[in-house]
Amino acid sequence: MGPAELRGAAAEMNFSGKKILITGATGTVGRPIAEALAATNEVWCLGRFGDPAIRADLQKQGIATVQWNLGTSELDGLPKGFTHVFHSAVIKNDESQSDHIEKHAFAAAQLMHHCRDGEAFIFVSASSVYRRQEPGRLHKEDDLLGDNTPVLETYAMHKNGTEAVVRSLARLYGLRSTIARLSVTFGAQGYGGLPSTFCQLMLDGKPIPTRESPDENWCSPMHSDDYVRQVPLLWAIAAVPATVLNWGGDEAVTQREIAEYVAEITGLPLRFEINPRHRMSAALDSARRRKMIGTCEVDWREGVRRTLKARFPGVIKEAA
Ligand SMILES: NC(=O)c1ccc[n+]([C@@H]2O[C@H](COP(=O)([O-])OP(=O)(O)OC[C@H]3O[C@@H](n4cnc5c(N)ncnc54)[C@H](OP(=O)(O)O)[C@@H]3O)[C@@H](O)[C@H]2O)c1
Repeated sequence: MGPAELRGAAAEMNFSGKKILITGATGTVGRPIAEALAATNEVWCLGRFGDPAIRADLQKQGIATVQWNLGTSELDGLPKGFTHVFHSAVIKNDESQSDHIEKHAFAAAQLMHHCRDGEAFIFVSASSVYRRQEPGRLHKEDDLLGDNTPVLETYAMHKNGTEAVVRSLARLYGLRSTIARLSVTFGAQGYGGLPSTFCQLMLDGKPIPTRESPDENWCSPMHSDDYVRQVPLLWAIAAVPATVLNWGGDEAVTQREIAEYVAEITGLPLRFEINPRHRMSAALDSARRRKMIGTCEVDWREGVRRTLKARFPGVIKEAA
């Protein structure tokens, strides 16, 4: 989906006239959402904007950009009156666990405090919050929490900690909130997600990193068309106490299946390499999400084809 189509998608949803605050708007998830919403709403984005070209591009679309370092900056000077918040910024480097938890938890509290009179708040959490059980398990929202991923070791900890902050302040302020536990995303934007990462590795003649067995790495991939379309729906189901739901695609697949499909439609040679530090992914049970906001529209194979076509022109075989 290009910016024009994204704008069309937002307009179709009839979601307009709101004053929206977004964090993570230069990222894979937040950017297409900010751009789609900007067509019919007043959108403000907070971030470091390390890439001035992305900042300029957002501004060209009428989006206000405000310098903000998660967990460190104050919100002095930021206007009030935001009706909706989409908080997706995340620090992915390996800082100390204590700093990481404090910064993420504080940032969510700071945003909720600033926007406590708003209509709805979304916090983007992750499937990593779940304690990993048997491979292929479709994790449900009330499954056990607490992952021990060997990379980004603080990731699940700060997501779980921040979820607790969001749940608490939703009740304290009466601010309708949704905690959306995202599975892996993919699409033409940002770094493109797993299919693009795999395709680039194959083009470079490099192996696909995997844990002991590639089949252990399940996920519920979600295409950008679906996550962009669903954001206003997530605001609509925000509640007090906070709504907690899995936010992934309708289909659970293994990373092996994704890599094999990329190889199939591109004809690129595929090999796996075991790396015990490779990041795990987890599949999600989508029943609550389907019931509350409906199904996804993009089949994962179709989404992979579209993504590769947009990001690697000519890489897909003619007949595929
Ligand atoms: N993409 C996925 O597959 C996936 C899966 C599960 C969960 N999630 C969650 O979805 C959210 C978005 O992920 P993403 O894939 O879009 O991440 P991303 O592409 O890595 O983008 C990260 C965003 O966070 C911002 N950020 C990083 N450090 C910051 C700081 N110190 N202060 C302010 N902003 C900062 C970045 O903006 P600047 O660098 O411009 O400041 C960027 O906009 C995250 O909460 C992530 O945990 C993503």
